[in-house]
Amino acid sequence: MADFYPLFRPILRALPPETAHRLTLAALAAGLGGRTAALDPPILAQRLWDRDFPNPIGIAAGFDKDGLVPDALLGLGFGFVEIGTVTPQPQPGNPRPRVFRLDPDGALINRLGFNSGGLDRLVARLQARSDPGGRKAGIVGVNIGRNRDSADAVADYAEGVRRTAALADYLVVNVSSPNTPGLRNLQARAVLEDLLRQLLAARAETGASPPLLVKIAPDLAPAERADIAAVALATGIDGIVVANTTVARPPGLRGPHAGEAGGLSGRPLFEPSTALLGEIYRLTQGRLPLVGVGGVAGAADAYAKIRAGASLVQLYTALVFAGPALLGQIKAGLAELLRRDGFTSVADAVGADHAKLGAASDHGDRAL
Ligand code: FNR
Repeated sequence: MADFYPLFRPILRALPPETAHRLTLAALAAGLGGRTAALDPPILAQRLWDRDFPNPIGIAAGFDKDGLVPDALLGLGFGFVEIGTVTPQPQPGNPRPRVFRLDPDGALINRLGFNSGGLDRLVARLQARSDPGGRKAGIVGVNIGRNRDSADAVADYAEGVRRTAALADYLVVNVSSPNTPGLRNLQARAVLEDLLRQLLAARAETGASPPLLVKIAPDLAPAERADIAAVALATGIDGIVVANTTVARPPGLRGPHAGEAGGLSGRPLFEPSTALLGEIYRLTQGRLPLVGVGGVAGAADAYAKIRAGASLVQLYTALVFAGPALLGQIKAGLAELLRRDGFTSVADAVGADHAKLGAASDHGDRAL
């Protein structure tokens, strides 16, 4: 794809977004993505949760919901791939059209509503890639959700955990999609604490111990943010993904589809999601690895997420506008920025902006 993309681009842009996406997945499945031969600069490598990440840039959930092409995505050079959201039973999602490009804003609005091929098929694909002999290298996380019409949300998530724990490098509990009615209520303190405890128990039953993360919305009130941080620390989950798409519509959006219902992603999400990331880092005192996602469209954005507190960074929307060559640019630029500022590794730079904050507040200056 890196090679073919310039040829594909005008075709993809002329198609409705969802059709273009299906075509992209088909091209990747057909091997048109190619494999990047370049090794990542060692400064980007990181060991986290007992796993070796060659670089901190991953592809966010929603791009490969059914786990069709994780190895092709790793081949493009992503440091890790998050597949899903997968629901236990297959479900079609919302009526189309349900994905909209906001070209002048570098943004998308989607209200897909967890269209999913279901756990059976996704698990079979993961099993095929992890068969002895066919075992594939590379970090693949699974993002799990609930069926829209399920009577028992906790049971849905627990099933996702039980069925994928042994096959996933990490798990993400998605309680933050805006497109499944009631889903975000699972972020309320007592509900979330109960959910996470049950999922940690479900994970323990499997005998496998992939890190369990929760993915949160950018649209939380201050008290809710503090609650989530407290619950994350109290339950002992392994990390937080900050953040999902927003239901807010920042002033100044120019795309004619800005009024569509759904979750907004891309450039307008960068600032609010990075501010939330920094806040969650502070609230968790830097004790939990965070995954920063929202509006990353270049190396400086990825670096800002890391300095705000992200150990790992993900992106999706910018790839729709810039294509896969963006990934190589981000990795090279990030290595450069780290070196420029005297860091010897990504881990060194995680939360660097808060070191400044801490020093400032030691002197009674809490202006930030
Ligand atoms: C998403 N996102 C998403 N997140 C998630 O946890 N499960 C999902 O199934 C999806 N699906 C999805 C579909 C589409 C079309 C988009 C654009 C996004 C959210 C995604 O993972 C990410 O959190 C946001 O898009 C913010 O990152 P970007 O796109 O601004 O880099």
